[in-house]
Amino acid sequence: SIEDDALVLKSYIKSYPDFPLPGILFRDIFNVFQNTDGLQLLNNILKKYATEIAGTVDCVAMLEARGFLLGTLMALHLNVPCVPVRKKGKLPGKVAQLEYSLEYAKDVLEVQLDVLKEGKRVLVIDDLLATGGTLDASIQLLRKTGAEVVQAVVIMELVDLEARKKIDIPIKSFIQY
Ligand code: PRP
Ligand code: ADE
Repeated sequence: SIEDDALVLKSYIKSYPDFPLPGILFRDIFNVFQNTDGLQLLNNILKKYATEIAGTVDCVAMLEARGFLLGTLMALHLNVPCVPVRKKGKLPGKVAQLEYSLEYAKDVLEVQLDVLKEGKRVLVIDDLLATGGTLDASIQLLRKTGAEVVQAVVIMELVDLEARKKIDIPIKSFIQY
């Protein structure tokens, strides 16, 4: 099952205390990518999940930077296009923008408008859900395009930070800490 696979996947996640700041326990998904068995397992989990939700999603939105790697795999399994959500100034052409607050600063996210239109059913994907600030801002941004954000997917969820309280769409996570 996906749950059994996810338990094995968890053993491929390396944790680094005090990175990038004191007090942060950094969960590094790139260690999965550095093991062919881990990478196959990750891909198989996404493939199985894609069969569960097939037909309910028209597009995958993938969050910079590690979300790009997962969004591409997910889009291939769902046979739908994928679009990046990036920090401002990196995407050419017509974009939607959203300003959002960080702990002590502001930033802007952008997404290109080509594939996102009124009524598109979007799945948004990232590697990790912490406070949920990034996911929340991305959902607001995607809604600006007229798209309907139907599902969020993350590989890892830091449960104690209670991000689900501020997110109003279903969230699928495979590994919880
Ligand atoms: C990490 C992670 C998520 C976000 C989660 O990205 O990949 O995008 O933080 O945190 P939140 O739920 O508190 O918003 P990071 O800021 O390290 O950026 P990067 O992926 O571009 O390196
Ligand atoms: N992004 C926010 N918190 C994180 C953590 N603990 N590990 C990896 N990425 C993160």
